[in-house]
Amino acid sequence: MRLYRKEGLNVQIISFPNEEVAKGNYLVVEDRETGRSLIVQVVDIQYANIPGILEELLRNYNGDSYIKGEDLDPFEVGNHIEFIQDARLLICKIRASNSDGVLVSANSWLPSRSRAIVKPFPIEKLLIQVKMHEVYSMHLGETMEKKGLCVDVRTLDGGLNIITGKKGTGKSHMSKLLTLSMVKHGAPIVVLDLNGEYAGLGKDVDGKPNEFSGKIHVLTPGKNLQVTLAQLKLGVMLKILVNALNLPGTSAREFRRIWSFLQQKDGLSMSNLGEAIKNWKCNQHVRDALFSRYYTLLSSRLFTDNSAQATSLRDALYKARVGGAVVINLRDISTIGRHIVVEYVLGKLVELLTSWKLRAVFLFAEEAHLYLRETYWDDIVTRMRHFGVFTTFITNQPDTIRENIYSQADNLFLFNFTNEHDLETISRASKADAETVKSVVRDLPPFHCLALGKVVNDFPVVVRVRQLDVLAMGQTRLFFSERNS
Ligand SMILES: Nc1ncnc2c1ncn2[C@@H]1O[C@H](COP(=O)(O)OP(=O)(O)O)[C@@H](O)[C@H]1O
Ligand SMILES: [Mg+2]
Repeated sequence: MRLYRKEGLNVQIISFPNEEVAKGNYLVVEDRETGRSLIVQVVDIQYANIPGILEELLRNYNGDSYIKGEDLDPFEVGNHIEFIQDARLLICKIRASNSDGVLVSANSWLPSRSRAIVKPFPIEKLLIQVKMHEVYSMHLGETMEKKGLCVDVRTLDGGLNIITGKKGTGKSHMSKLLTLSMVKHGAPIVVLDLNGEYAGLGKDVDGKPNEFSGKIHVLTPGKNLQVTLAQLKLGVMLKILVNALNLPGTSAREFRRIWSFLQQKDGLSMSNLGEAIKNWKCNQHVRDALFSRYYTLLSSRLFTDNSAQATSLRDALYKARVGGAVVINLRDISTIGRHIVVEYVLGKLVELLTSWKLRAVFLFAEEAHLYLRETYWDDIVTRMRHFGVFTTFITNQPDTIRENIYSQADNLFLFNFTNEHDLETISRASKADAETVKSVVRDLPPFHCLALGKVVNDFPVVVRVRQLDVLAMGQTRLFFSERNS
């Protein structure tokens, strides 16, 4: 490889056919004499446009048919010409410069074009700067050079992470990998599981219990997730009514009165609540508004009057305190039901965190736009973060996450996108330069992701996510595969 051009942070390198280079690879441009070097990343690969190459290609064209005869090449230049025709131009971005083994952010130093040696640079060396303690190591997968990539779990702490990519590229898989790795390191996790696919995390591929089996608690509303009104704080109930069910302010005030009335009588229950609304002296519109919400609450099946059936989310979270995941199964629930359940879970989380019963919680939210109101997003990433709710959003529609939320993300895991609109969205929103993101993400094979942010020491790295020995669930239901088997 030879250094060809440098313009700002862009470097062009000529690579010959016998050299293996792929998009996303890191190279080092070394100047032996000065002992300095540039660390660059390949973001695109093109043909080298050498003068006269078009002529040469046209001259050699023979209609794709084989012409009988012998090629005369008395000076043996044929091989050389082919070699040059296949030479590639690597479009690279400068990521850092290296002076006496210390990586510093890029500077304006220009390496010598004649003396500089260009060779591959192992990714481990980039990450070595983060002083990783063995105890906090987490195996993410493999780099493009087929070397294992371990990162520090602490880089996921206290922050906001986003996993995005088109359908079927491995986003949920990545999120499961992060979940299990964090559980292994003793972190409490709450998963808002839209497709009911995290239930298999406690089982291996054959369906037998694995090392996590005692640490995954799947809660399904209506089945093993039901609460009595007495368990619920008024604040959480009001949040459900106002945020999830759009109850107007005046009706909410009336509801508050009904609630304290029932509480004083020690009669907080769904049936009593229904009766109380029916007999409450108030404006007819208010009563209607309350009644319609009451029936929606009933149909969500989250509430029960039977305290023997009631589950304690608090106990489940307590168990997860030393490493465990509470999976809220939102599959087969109506949209409004999901809103109610999520509002309840978040309300409960904040309650436990503010009273310091829990230190912090990592929240994994799949396709959050389907159950979180727009105004909630900012709340989750700012206010809730202070309480200790550290969120990971997973979505295949990157434009459902607003740009200001991307800008607050500490880590981004980008899987393949081919759609121009999606590429545009993520390239505008991510931490690395738009050119790198678009060019690399467009060509990512399935199960590969471009990791950006603290987790990779701010060097964009392509990683093939490792396999998991867990039972896959929530696969797309198909018609034909069923009939063929
Ligand atoms: N790194 C991986 N190694 C092996 N299989 C994977 C990997 N990532 C995803 N898969 C498999 O590919 C399928 C789709 O992955 P999934 O994570 O559900 O995609 P997405 O959530 O992006 O739609 C699943 O069956 C999953 O088990
Ligand atoms: Mg998924």
